[in-house]
Amino acid sequence: MDERNRGRLTKDGIRIYEAADFAGMHKAGRLAAEILDAVAPMVQVGQSTGALDTAIERMVDEAGAKSATIGYKGYQHASCISVNHVVCHGIPGPKVLKDGDILNIDVTVIVDGWYGDTSRMFVAGKLSRRAERLIQVTHDALFRGIGAVKPSNTFGDIGHAIQSFVEANRMSVVRDFCGHGLGRVFHAPPNVLHYGRPGTGPMLEEGMFFTIEPMVNLGRPETKVLADDWTAVTRDKSLSAQFEHSVGVTAEGCELFTLSPAGRFHPTWT
Ligand code: MF3
Ligand code: CO
Ligand code: CO
Repeated sequence: MDERNRGRLTKDGIRIYEAADFAGMHKAGRLAAEILDAVAPMVQVGQSTGALDTAIERMVDEAGAKSATIGYKGYQHASCISVNHVVCHGIPGPKVLKDGDILNIDVTVIVDGWYGDTSRMFVAGKLSRRAERLIQVTHDALFRGIGAVKPSNTFGDIGHAIQSFVEANRMSVVRDFCGHGLGRVFHAPPNVLHYGRPGTGPMLEEGMFFTIEPMVNLGRPETKVLADDWTAVTRDKSLSAQFEHSVGVTAEGCELFTLSPAGRFHPTWT
């Protein structure tokens, strides 16, 4: 049997994993988080995003793991690095970080066939007050979403928890990209929307594995993809932030697979 077909599917096509599968997800998630912990001190004014990606690729390699993004739909890098008004899928390259730049670094690794997908915000130099507020609201929005993860809640409850919090802070939730199921594949059902109405969407069940990865803009929610076919930016050029965890639903709530072992998930935590 193809190992990717283990377990069963719900009527919405969402895979239900077994208790023993959480260990594999924890191992993959931990590596992704450790790599972001290790890259944190390299995020400095004058550093290029390409050099950060090269370091990430080396760390994936040295861990004996595989990058999920290299070769994915033609993507050629071990990370996405999205600076300032880049919403997601920024391509690492010669661009050099300058004072006050904020950036999301998103890493997905494969360990023993399991996928660990996480991203968080970093800052080069001095964090401005408005960027700090954006980052804080985005981080807290992710945790509002995580707080809604438990059996008998729905995916709409997660989206609503995120959207209502972000909009109460007069910021906007990106609609054009969403979280996703993952496990022994990178992207699987469901689409995890970061907006929605309570009680709508598929029901959560113990054994579901998925990401929550809200993107929040200081301005309007609309995005556009640049001519490189990857880089998504805010249409109004406003600053954007994102945090991502991979989670597994338990009887009580959920486990986070991508917790930072160094306690560095938020850029102002040292
Ligand atoms: N890691 C991203 C996510 O959160 C996906 C990146 S796909 C890539 O789903 F090809 F752009 F790397
Ligand atoms: Co993801
Ligand atoms: Co990701």
